[in-house]
Amino acid sequence: MNHVLLHQTVIGQETLQQMGLTGEYPDVVVGCVGGGSNFGGIALPFLRENLKNSRNTRIMAVEPSLCPTLTKGFFTYDFADTVGTTPMMKMYTLGHSFVPPGIHAGGLGYHGDSLIISALVDAGLIEARAYPQNPTFEAGILFAWAEGIIPAQEVTHEIKATVDLALEAKEAGEQKKILFNLCGHGYFDLSAYEQYLAGELVDLEYPEEAIEEAVARITR
Ligand SMILES: Cc1ncc(COP(=O)(O)O)c(C=O)c1O
Repeated sequence: MNHVLLHQTVIGQETLQQMGLTGEYPDVVVGCVGGGSNFGGIALPFLRENLKNSRNTRIMAVEPSLCPTLTKGFFTYDFADTVGTTPMMKMYTLGHSFVPPGIHAGGLGYHGDSLIISALVDAGLIEARAYPQNPTFEAGILFAWAEGIIPAQEVTHEIKATVDLALEAKEAGEQKKILFNLCGHGYFDLSAYEQYLAGELVDLEYPEEAIEEAVARITR
């Protein structure tokens, strides 16, 4: 809901001030998206700077490829809840009855997305990428070795995007300041890391048929 994002923008407002203290400004802002609240929190103040103060920061949302709401979903009216009791709202959705196949980043498994984030993606002001879980765990472990913090599986998605964006910049011979929001730690789900390190995590196929069926059910 938009008021939740408004509340969360304290993240981006503080980050703007903190970066101001260091004299830095991000070229890219990256965040993971479940419903969109932590992402909106960090991204919307920077988007405001783009629109009002002629800044040119790239804003990127990241999601799991098994729950690809922004990258493969439909921009249409749907219920916000799974049983269909809320008013219908226009958002990117995979259908309110869609349940993603088992992924460890459970917080990114919501069928829809915040209305304001959906509208901004539709308007082309926010980009979106999706990743399967194995490469995101690899990026999470890289981060843990580098920073001594084990990130939540949700966060590993944006870390993967951040690593890729840094490598893309390196290849292009450019220097980019990339900001991402470390919105949670992974200490409650260490068994997921254990499974990854044991080579037991499989990257399932994109659930196209399940999504088509769930989307068809919206209009029915
Ligand atoms: C650590 C973490 N990050 C991100 C999310 C995604 O939610 P949202 O997109 O609403 O911020 C969750 C949701 O549970 C979470 O636990």
